Amino acid sequence: MPTALITGGTSGIGKATAELLHARGYRVAVTGQNPDSVARAQSELPDDVLVVRSDARVLSDTDALMSAVSERFGSLDLLFLNAGVFRPAPLSDATEESFDEHTEVNFKGQYFTLQKALPLLNDGGSVVMTVGIMGIHRGSPGATLGAATRGALLAMMPSLALELAPRRIRVNAVSPGATDTPLMDKLGVPQEARDAMRANIPFERFGSVQEVAETVAFLASDAARYITGQDVTVAGGSGLSA
Ligand SMILES: NC(=O)c1ccc[n+]([C@@H]2O[C@H](COP(=O)([O-])OP(=O)(O)OC[C@H]3O[C@@H](n4cnc5c(N)ncnc54)[C@H](OP(=O)(O)O)[C@@H]3O)[C@@H](O)[C@H]2O)c1
Repeated sequence: MPTALITGGTSGIGKATAELLHARGYRVAVTGQNPDSVARAQSELPDDVLVVRSDARVLSDTDALMSAVSERFGSLDLLFLNAGVFRPAPLSDATEESFDEHTEVNFKGQYFTLQKALPLLNDGGSVVMTVGIMGIHRGSPGATLGAATRGALLAMMPSLALELAPRRIRVNAVSPGATDTPLMDKLGVPQEARDAMRANIPFERFGSVQEVAETVAFLASDAARYITGQDVTVAGGSGLSA
């Protein structure tokens, strides 16, 4: 049975991906950092999904995570680096605390999770990183820290893909547009703002977590065996207009 580790798998996109991969026969491990969401995921995900409380900012947590995954699965076929935060604020209001949180979860956390997972990843395995359409070339007022720390992932992806190519480990990104997850509630986005965002999407709806999960499952599958170093946008046409 193939195996997958999904960081930020207790909610939203990560949890939907855990459910889809489990239904397709994967053995799955997920992480989150909030004890309440970890407990909720434990009760909502299938019993044999390994749910680990592991804060992506804390490297000793990541070491313990890899030990738990190694003990349960032995090795990994997919590492889905999905844990992330997004706390929009204009530059004038940004704090050092928010700067550090974005950097440590979205960039440093992903980087060292991959480093520490490398010995477990099987040759021919797959790494997928969640980026988002505000990675490098598009923007939104207030999104500087979210965009910069996601853009860092895209900037390192080609080099990672080349480093891991000798082991035939593929490194790709998935970039959701506005997706219907608990994130909007966590951010307190009001209904009118959601309606305005929806009206700006060519497909006139938010993406679903399943649509992003299907893309991750494809990138992890043998059907994508010759695809590496690519960022796949799942956004209903957002960002295409001139
Ligand atoms: N939803 C969108 O429209 C959208 C668009 C583009 C990109 N994204 C990105 O997609 C990813 C998933 O987002 P989502 O919408 O599914 O959000 P979500 O429902 O808020 O899920 C975020 C996940 O990341 C975990 N996480 C946060 N901080 C963590 C940390 N320090 N250590 C470990 N896990 C941590 C959360 O766990 P806890 O609950 O335990 O904190 C949760 O499992 C994020 O990286 C997000 O930035 C989302």
